Amino acid sequence: MPSAPSSPSLAPPLPTPADLTIRVRDWRFARKAPPQRWWLGGDPVATAWHNALSATFPRGEAFFIEAVRAHREGAPAPLAAAIRAFVGQEVNHSREHLAFNRLAAEAGYDLSGIDQRVTALLGRMRGRPVILNLATTIALEHFTAMLAHDLLARPSAYAGADADTLALWRWHAIEEIEHKGVAFDTWLHATRSWSRWRRWRLRCVMMLLITRMFVRNRIADTLDLLRQDGITGAGAQLRVLWWLFGSPGALRRVFPAWLGYFRPGFHPWHRDDRALIAPAEAEAARVGGGL
Ligand SMILES: [Fe+2]
Ligand SMILES: [Fe+2]
Repeated sequence: MPSAPSSPSLAPPLPTPADLTIRVRDWRFARKAPPQRWWLGGDPVATAWHNALSATFPRGEAFFIEAVRAHREGAPAPLAAAIRAFVGQEVNHSREHLAFNRLAAEAGYDLSGIDQRVTALLGRMRGRPVILNLATTIALEHFTAMLAHDLLARPSAYAGADADTLALWRWHAIEEIEHKGVAFDTWLHATRSWSRWRRWRLRCVMMLLITRMFVRNRIADTLDLLRQDGITGAGAQLRVLWWLFGSPGALRRVFPAWLGYFRPGFHPWHRDDRALIAPAEAEAARVGGGL
């Protein structure tokens, strides 16, 4: 991708691979309910964590689209094309997770509390300078890229999952990896006149704030859903914390990648993990109608 002509010293060639394809797969999932309520191997905690994430996706992804679009003006042609593909992918993700969330509601889960909390939080964010929304988006896109990498890198952790439901998550993970650099490259474009120090400082401060918020809120949401399964109290809290930070350690495992974000000069494509895509794609295509 060409560097910004206005500040060549601050905009070296981007690490985004020149041969990267961001493919919008307009596939359909989650049109029939999983055979069991705890679709992820019969594990209530793992299922609740994923259901809680899904409940936040439609509104969260709309926020990401808004934040990226607000800074597309003057983008070089390859970045403008990448932004269009990013929007196409995120719109489809929202549609499919809305369908998934409807199935969860039909299964008896009340997701309205999570939805209200996300709506209120995003409403507060929308009142801020738009560059802060983009800084928020690159932090959260790093979270989704890390979790997507982990999902595709450890098929054994999902061995007991309902195949059709897992296909939805794999499809989403594939596309999150493909577009993981788009918001970040938009950020580099939007802040091209900033000093490296100013850019690094805001990016890192925002990551710390977002991490606190993301971890706290997703745990609260997971506990909300577990309560609806009758799993409550200190025992529920310990089970969630152990699942996230002990074994299998969904958040513990992404800690090194999280830490990497604080490195000056960090870019999501310093880790090229496109090799994870092909093995996961065939099964997602079969279920989603892409084959
Ligand atoms: Fe997405
Ligand atoms: Fe994304």
